[in-house]
Amino acid sequence: MLNNFDEVVNRRNTYSVKWDGGKIIKEMKLTERYDEDTIPLFLADMDLPVPQALVDALHKTVDNRIYGYSLFPDEYYHAIQNWFKKRHDWDIKREEIVYSPGTVHAINMAVRAYTEPEDGIIIQRPVYPPFTTAIEKNNRKLLNNALVCDEEGYYTIDFEDFEEKAKQPTTKMFIMCNPHNPTGRIFQVDELKKLSAICAENNVLIVADEIHGDLIRKNQTFHPIAKIVENDDHIITCTAINKTFNVAGLHCTNVIIPSFKLRNKFIRTMGYQMASPFTIAALIAVYNDGEGWLEDVKEYLDGTIKMVKEFFDEKMPKLKVAIPEGTYIMWLDFSTYGISPEEVHDRIYNKANVLLEDGSMFGEEGISHQRICIPSPRSIVKEALERIAKEFEDLV
Ligand SMILES: Cc1ncc(COP(=O)(O)O)c(C=O)c1O
Repeated sequence: MLNNFDEVVNRRNTYSVKWDGGKIIKEMKLTERYDEDTIPLFLADMDLPVPQALVDALHKTVDNRIYGYSLFPDEYYHAIQNWFKKRHDWDIKREEIVYSPGTVHAINMAVRAYTEPEDGIIIQRPVYPPFTTAIEKNNRKLLNNALVCDEEGYYTIDFEDFEEKAKQPTTKMFIMCNPHNPTGRIFQVDELKKLSAICAENNVLIVADEIHGDLIRKNQTFHPIAKIVENDDHIITCTAINKTFNVAGLHCTNVIIPSFKLRNKFIRTMGYQMASPFTIAALIAVYNDGEGWLEDVKEYLDGTIKMVKEFFDEKMPKLKVAIPEGTYIMWLDFSTYGISPEEVHDRIYNKANVLLEDGSMFGEEGISHQRICIPSPRSIVKEALERIAKEFEDLV
């Protein structure tokens, strides 16, 4: 590996939500305790340094000394098209690409552009909480097609329930998360085709949040839904460099909208968005020159996930934890400990002083779970695991 991800980069005093965010974290009621000794493994934000090509591109942009309104050059679009063709064998036309400053922003815009108050929107809980917020804060009706979990912690889709919800006349949209946060599932071609067919038949638009699509286990394949179906007119896909290259702070999401009509509606609702010159330079650098780094980071994450799984199997054998197919998120099931979610929280957050995310944030299906994000140097993850295990020693 060319990149050294064991290096601990100090992120304190860098405006980091994860490492400097005590005030917001307490306001969000994630925990009462947040201090210099807290290990934050709660946010999908890597503590691993980005590709050197990106650092160089940003330096070059800084050296221009003027950072005015910027346009998207041909190179920007080519970089996106080449990346998705090469990595996912997906042909994207240039005109289908719409820049948005964020995926959550794009999802909110889609809800406003394509649905009316009281319309139904399907999501699959337990799921990334901003999906719920986008539906509820816009006064739409939430339809939960809960994923079904087996004994091994593997999640699958209840298609009968999905179809029943899609058939309701007021159902207008399905917000899909693939790879799925927090369960780590990557939906397979047969599942995606079935979801797409049900939605097409019932005029339900699919908003596919695929921003974890590049960060999957080395032995897995990810299929963009718009690529594998014959007709993609009812699909809009959110792609981003944010997760893949750890640049959430540069705000760069590209929404792929094949339908001309849907694209115009989206742009009218959102208004034309310009990106900063740093964002434009970053996208071109990472999509053109970041592939080697991504392969290294995937290998590092695979190793860390294996380490976490082996640690828990040995030290906390009651805990149910599966290797996620995609994402760097692990979904820990504490239900076999026989203690309340509040006590699990207290032991991890207040006593071990490790900051995770309570599963209840992802819907009631997550109540007995904790979400841990592991894209940090292994020494940090290891220390967090040891602190947690110590607080559960009496329950082994
Ligand atoms: C599934 C999913 N969508 C969207 C986001 C946030 O994306 P953005 O920062 O582009 O709004 C996250 C961040 O964790 C995520 O996991």
